[in-house]
Amino acid sequence: MERAGFECLLSESEVQSKVAELAQQISQDYVGRNLLLLGILNGAALFLADLVRKITIPVEYDFVGFKSYSGSESQGHVEVTKELKSDVAGKNVIIVEDIIDTGRTLHQSGLMQSLARSGVADIKLCSLLDKPASRIHPVEIHYLGFTIENVFVVGYGLDHNGLYRNLPYIGIYRP
Ligand code: IMP
Ligand code: MG
Repeated sequence: MERAGFECLLSESEVQSKVAELAQQISQDYVGRNLLLLGILNGAALFLADLVRKITIPVEYDFVGFKSYSGSESQGHVEVTKELKSDVAGKNVIIVEDIIDTGRTLHQSGLMQSLARSGVADIKLCSLLDKPASRIHPVEIHYLGFTIENVFVVGYGLDHNGLYRNLPYIGIYRP
């Protein structure tokens, strides 16, 4: 099935300049400290890839994988698709997400707790998008790109049934 295009919510240049701003802020905030960006697969892969290339201080990155969505419905449970393998003890970690919606992924995955048990120095959260209207579990986002309305979005890593992640902009998916 092919789709010609989606109504644009955030253009490629809006996304890229926001990513540059976030990278600049992070680079300033972590001067002289170690830094590990921990991306959540699959959605955050493109955001992390762009973000890390705009960060100007030494930085490591890794990914963990969680899956909570099928189509445009949150499943209500979180499946682990890639476990954390990095040695995170003593690291300043920034979790990188594409979007915070219900907050279930972060909550039910127990990622924050398992990082804390592994002896990380600090944990912060960076998300490109925030959809506060559907929040179930409170989440504190330290580095945020954009707050959006309660619409289902695709592109720049975000998918519908695995598709449209490769769009360079963020579009509104209407079934
Ligand atoms: P949460 O667990 O409900 O906060 O949702 C987090 C995950 O759900 C994100 O990392 C996305 O993978 C997915 N998600 C939530 N809203 C959207 C959307 O509008 N488009 C695509 N994926 C979404
Ligand atoms: Mg995701």
